[in-house]
Amino acid sequence: MINSELSLLEELENLKKDFNSTVDKLAKDLKRNYKTMERSDKQQTREFLKLKALNKEIEDTQKEIIFTLGAIGESRSKETGNHVKRVAEYSKILALKYGISEADAEQLKQASPMHDIGKIAIPDAILNKPARLTFDEFEKMKEHAHLGNEMLRHSNRPLLKLAAIVAYEHHEKWDGSGYPQGTAGEDINIYGRITALADVFDALGSERVYKPAWEDERIWKLFKEEKGKHFDPKLIDIFFENIDLFLEVRDRLKDTIT
Ligand SMILES: [Fe+2]
Ligand SMILES: [Fe+2]
Repeated sequence: MINSELSLLEELENLKKDFNSTVDKLAKDLKRNYKTMERSDKQQTREFLKLKALNKEIEDTQKEIIFTLGAIGESRSKETGNHVKRVAEYSKILALKYGISEADAEQLKQASPMHDIGKIAIPDAILNKPARLTFDEFEKMKEHAHLGNEMLRHSNRPLLKLAAIVAYEHHEKWDGSGYPQGTAGEDINIYGRITALADVFDALGSERVYKPAWEDERIWKLFKEEKGKHFDPKLIDIFFENIDLFLEVRDRLKDTIT
C-alpha cells in the first residue's frame, strides 16, 4: 500500500519539477526582456519574481524544519547533529549509485535525517542507558520505528511521506529478522534499505554512550558478513565499490569535540 501511495507521490513530484522548470524558464525570459517592457508588464514581472522567491523560501524552510526535527530526535539520544547530516549524505550516494534519479536521491537525502524522529517518545532512561538494554527495554526502544511512522504518515507532503517510510523501515533486515514488520528482501522499501546501511555505518564508526567507535577493519568485516543478512547485498557491493566517497563525507562532516 505504501509503495503505491509513493508512486503516486512520485508522479506528483515529477509534475511539480516540470512546473518549476517552466517557471524558471519564464522568469529568465521575463528578466531578459524587462528593459523593453511596458510599465504595467514591468509591474507584473516584479510581482511574479517576488512570488517565485517566496515559493523558494517556503520550500527551503520546509527542508530546514525536517532537518531540525531529525536532529532533535537524534539529540534526545545524545547523538550529534552531524550524525544525521552524514546519514543524509551517505543515503544520497547509495541512492544515486543504485540507479535512483538525482531528484529522488535528493528527496531521500532530505528525508533520511528523520529516521529516528520516533525516539522523541522513548524515555530518557532507555535512550541514554550507558549499558546493554534488557529485553523489555529493547522492546520499548524498538517502538521508535512505529512511532516515527505514526508521526509522519498522515502528512500529504511527499517529503514527509518519504520520511515516514524511512522512519518505519530503517530497522528492517534483508533476511526478514528486523523490526517492526519483519519484512524481507525487496519487500522492504529501497529507501528503508538504503537508510539502514547509512545509519549503521555511521553508528558503528561513532562513539555512543554504550560503545566506543569501531575501527574500520571491524566495520568492513561486519558488512561483509551481513551482506544478504542484515543488508541488501547490492547495497553492500555499492558501498565497497565507492568507499572513497563515504570516507570523504565522514571526514568532511566529522564530529567536532566540544
Ligand atoms: Fe532507529
Ligand atoms: Fe541514527
